[in-house]
Amino acid sequence: KNLAVFVSGGGSNFRSIHNASINGLIHGDVVVLVTDKPGCGGAEYARDHNIPVIQFPKSKYSLEGLSPTDLVISLRKWKIQYILLAGFLKLIPTELVQAFPRSILNIHPSLLPAFGGKGYYGLKVHKAVIESGARYSGPTVHFVDEHYDTGRILAQKVVPVLANDTAEQLAARVLCEEHQVYVEVVSALCEDRIVWREDGVPLIRSKE
Ligand code: GRF
Repeated sequence: KNLAVFVSGGGSNFRSIHNASINGLIHGDVVVLVTDKPGCGGAEYARDHNIPVIQFPKSKYSLEGLSPTDLVISLRKWKIQYILLAGFLKLIPTELVQAFPRSILNIHPSLLPAFGGKGYYGLKVHKAVIESGARYSGPTVHFVDEHYDTGRILAQKVVPVLANDTAEQLAARVLCEEHQVYVEVVSALCEDRIVWREDGVPLIRSKE
């Protein structure tokens, strides 16, 4: 399966997916990286590993660079089956959501639907979790729709929030789990182990 990864930042999830693909844990290849921040760590990693980098459309109304339709055309040229958002901060344009139905995933560092949506990104998520007094947090992998963090949930991992946690400490504990759960889900996706229940809930079949 051909995968496109979208990043805006350091790209540690991107790296773990790329490594899993090289090591055969994922039956898929990262064939292109899409970014809105060409200088970010994820984009640098891609260039160092000879993965082509394409620029995400600057804004809906901008005439510069690719339009969302151009982006769909390029992803088709690369024969992309699945799009994986990994620390990607822009909203995904409708054109893309419609062109790749049930094929775009995101990872979010809280147990959705709690602490999700616009404004909940980076350390802000973990600060809000700590301030709420919640005892557990953890990553969610979900399908992407036209809004922030509202698509169907596929997998979650539970991580404890410790009494004296700082946002940074909690973020690091959650990130460790992110790397594992995202690889598990992408592995299932590439092996066609995701089944859709009649009511529209996606489930992961375990390996036989
Ligand atoms: C992760 O916490 C992810 O859940 C969120 O953005 C962060 C990206 O981290 N969507 P990295 O760039 O993969 O290290």
